[in-house]
Amino acid sequence: MTEINKCNLAIYPGSFDPITNGHLDLINRGLKLFDHIVIAVAVNPAKTPLFSLEERLDLIKESLKDYPLRDRLDVDAFEGLLVDYVRKTGAKAILRGLRAVSDFEYEFQMALMNRRLNSDVETFFLMTGMRWIYISSRIIKEVAYAGGCVKGLVPEPVEKKLIEKLRP
Ligand code: PNS
Repeated sequence: MTEINKCNLAIYPGSFDPITNGHLDLINRGLKLFDHIVIAVAVNPAKTPLFSLEERLDLIKESLKDYPLRDRLDVDAFEGLLVDYVRKTGAKAILRGLRAVSDFEYEFQMALMNRRLNSDVETFFLMTGMRWIYISSRIIKEVAYAGGCVKGLVPEPVEKKLIEKLRP
């Protein structure tokens, strides 16, 4: 049988406020399908993130420092429409993670809107690993704010930064 070509490039967009082990798991899964992934941090003036854009980018880069497939990843920021950014990079694929049914409605809405805005781009959903199914950036921040331990749920640089920021 002829070998089926892999798609080359996928954009993995998100707020990454902050990056979690669930995100890292998804990146690892994505690299089994795509040769290259750009982790694209959204600049959303309507949201007030805990971490600034620079902090979020730095935390992603630090978290990937020792990752063996690092050369197949880029970390970037984008502002405005995701599909416009995707078009600029030449990618045809958006990568998103699905944890549970609760994610589905929001993701479905976004994927269809993105398709309406640019029908050349497809969204690929991958299931997050079972270990991370209950993890989100929001719940990590909530636990950290309240003094709970998030060790093992986020990369070490994120854990350190959360402690620094929330318990000065
Ligand atoms: O990690 P998040 O917050 O779930 O990521 C959401 C994100 C950044 C992927 C989404 O809000 C987005 O794509 N924002 C860019 C603006 C845009 O293109 N909106 C239309 C898509 S519905």
